[in-house]
Amino acid sequence: MRDATATRIVLAARPTGAPTPDDFRVETFQIPTPRNGQVLLRNRWLSLDPYMRGRMNAGRSYAAPVEIGEVMDGGTISEVVESLHPAWSPGDLVLAHAGWQTHAVVDGETLRRKLDPAGLPAQTALGVHGMPGFTAYAGLHEIGKPQHGETVVVAAASGPVGATVGQIAKLHGARAVGIAGGPDKVAHVRDALGFDVALDHRADDFAEQLAAACPDGIDVYFENVGGKVFDAVLPLLNDFARIPVCGLVAHYNETAPPAGPDRVPQLMGLILSRHLTVRGFIQRDFIALYPEFVREMGQWLRDGRVRYREDVVEGLENAPGAFIGMLAGKNFGKLLVNMSP
Ligand SMILES: NC(=O)c1ccc[n+]([C@@H]2O[C@H](COP(=O)([O-])OP(=O)(O)OC[C@H]3O[C@@H](n4cnc5c(N)ncnc54)[C@H](OP(=O)(O)O)[C@@H]3O)[C@@H](O)[C@H]2O)c1
Repeated sequence: MRDATATRIVLAARPTGAPTPDDFRVETFQIPTPRNGQVLLRNRWLSLDPYMRGRMNAGRSYAAPVEIGEVMDGGTISEVVESLHPAWSPGDLVLAHAGWQTHAVVDGETLRRKLDPAGLPAQTALGVHGMPGFTAYAGLHEIGKPQHGETVVVAAASGPVGATVGQIAKLHGARAVGIAGGPDKVAHVRDALGFDVALDHRADDFAEQLAAACPDGIDVYFENVGGKVFDAVLPLLNDFARIPVCGLVAHYNETAPPAGPDRVPQLMGLILSRHLTVRGFIQRDFIALYPEFVREMGQWLRDGRVRYREDVVEGLENAPGAFIGMLAGKNFGKLLVNMSP
């Protein structure tokens, strides 16, 4: 028999600075009946991602904000319970964008892809074999363009984007330097993921350590964080270095620009004199590469050439706390909420 009620987490208030548990509200609701073209989903896994912090703010960005009282936005692995759409059948496991809730009725056209229950673990379609992995793949290939022997630097290196950037860079014969927060993450990046060097951005002498780790300078800086890491990278950039600007997680909770002198002229001067390519991107800019990514990354994962780590939280009610922690670096690997009964 089909469930009658479901649970969801809505945006209760817009945060000022770091989000708090009071910015979220847990609600129960009656599960709607799907109409023609729609499917009823039971969500099994929810992805928690840094971009969700931006969705909590009002105002213009590359995507519309979540309104107060609306369900928080998010990617899911979901099971089709009922289908009034010809492409989907009950029992199908699908990649969806059904948000922070246990059930959802969505338009069948919005489902991204069907997952093979006998293939890779389904939840990898939210991490290394999904949006974050694709972000790394597309940003590195289309903007970073690492060449054999070049040095590629990336922070948040134990997370799904950074971990994948470094490992793909190695597959291209580049040197990978990973930056992470704390000794456990650093050891994982170096020993389990196979980066050439891993450094702790919290170390007092981090800038000196980075300079020592990059004796030939930096050719590709895959920008995930900004802040102090960017400051340390800047003087080490080589002529014609490429900087895919993917994310700035160190700044997502800021409410005002940092204090200090205006450094824009210095930055523009470096972009000019060092012939830098600085390009911001959102992964879907490169959506034409997605089928190639799914195929190639699937093979790398099956061959063990790309590895990944997951940080799994049990139960939807624990999503807000885990999300708040992620913005402070408390997650260790791709952050997922398991909503299976
Ligand atoms: N452009 C796009 O289309 C796109 C798509 C997906 C993701 N992104 C961006 O890619 C980046 C990584 O995403 P992800 O999903 O892989 O996240 P993640 O690594 O799982 O989580 C974020 C990590 O950021 C690090 N961090 C937080 N504050 C920091 C600070 N002040 N300095 C240095 N590091 C800090 C923490 O790791 P440590 O403890 O190791 O510092 C934290 O674990 C984010 O900026 C995200 O917004 C962009």
